[in-house]
Amino acid sequence: MDDYPVLETEFNGLSRAMPALPAAWYLDPAHHAREMSQIWMRNWVYLCRAETLEGPKAFRTFTIADQPILLLRDAEGALRGFFNTCRHRGSILCQQASGMLDKPLITCPYHQWAYDLSGRLRATGPMRPVEGFDRADHPLLPISVAEWGGFVFANLDPDAEAFETLYGAEMAYVANWPLADLRMGHSYTKRINCNWKIFWENFNECLHCPNIHPELSALVPIYGRAIMARRDDPDWAQTASETAAHISGGLRAGATSWSMDGSAQGRLPGLTEDDLDAGQRYVTLMPSIFVAHHADYVRSVQITPISPVEMEITAEWFFHPEMTARPDFDMGKIVDFGILVMDQDADACEMNQAGLQSRAFERGVLMQEEYEVFLFQDWIRGQLGEPKLSQGVASRASRRAKPKA
Ligand code: FES
Ligand SMILES: [Fe+2]
Repeated sequence: MDDYPVLETEFNGLSRAMPALPAAWYLDPAHHAREMSQIWMRNWVYLCRAETLEGPKAFRTFTIADQPILLLRDAEGALRGFFNTCRHRGSILCQQASGMLDKPLITCPYHQWAYDLSGRLRATGPMRPVEGFDRADHPLLPISVAEWGGFVFANLDPDAEAFETLYGAEMAYVANWPLADLRMGHSYTKRINCNWKIFWENFNECLHCPNIHPELSALVPIYGRAIMARRDDPDWAQTASETAAHISGGLRAGATSWSMDGSAQGRLPGLTEDDLDAGQRYVTLMPSIFVAHHADYVRSVQITPISPVEMEITAEWFFHPEMTARPDFDMGKIVDFGILVMDQDADACEMNQAGLQSRAFERGVLMQEEYEVFLFQDWIRGQLGEPKLSQGVASRASRRAKPKA
């Protein structure tokens, strides 16, 4: 972190109070539109799990910002993404949210242009061939698709950096989790009256944990100290050899997972003792999803902006088929705990957004502990082409990679 004078070097923290983003960025429709085009249309955005498209000709449709997207499996079963827009006069091609094509052709419901599953235009309905028209010039408009552990992402930017380059360190951090083998057990969608950045800012600090999350702070004792990790304490070196959870992170004594009673139901194949000791491992794939990894399950939370002052989260819980087959499997105590914490966060986010409406409030201030909030906000500045306040943004994974002391 030597490159970042704004950040402390001996512990995780800001070295001085820093200005937060302008309040108008959480309210103004024109600014919101700018974020949609500069951030959401230029980054990898989570779409769905790969197993929800079963074999060739399966398709699903999505919207990223206001852009219509078609995801399908081609004749070989490979995932392909296109704008869900006909090349003739621009009609929506697939109107349903999901389905299975009955032929290996996508036919426009308007005038019957038909495309094969690689996007080539094969037929022009009732239209006669005409001078100056070549079918080869009018394929579907492709978009980039990437898959990680069964999570499928799309990127509307043709010049986007490769998914693996951007998120490789995050992927390595949870490499032992058998993500592709897991299947969704429960889904929970919630509308939150806040700007999408408010949600990420709340996610990026634990100053609110003792107050907003009493149950979680009991399960993860370091959260009860309003910090996220050992090195968030400026004096961490003095307790470097301590392994108690309130110092080292991890779960309270006797607990093995995030659930109502703190118990895990088995463990996912492939995890090491180190993985289990962590209690939780979070990866964030900005701007659209974070995935929380535990001993016995994984929870993803997808973030979808709706307007400057509204967003939606969809949480999904993933389990190993061997575990869900057990007669004593109890999904309820896992799901209930997640919903308890997410509802607490949602209330906090709405509270924050409501206060931002104040005309007299121009912007907030970030304190020492809010280094991840700062880095998030600086990432936003960078994405928008605004001057950044740090000289770069070290990846979250590189901040984790501190010597484990
Ligand atoms: S808009 Fe699709 S065939 Fe006319
Ligand atoms: Fe929280």
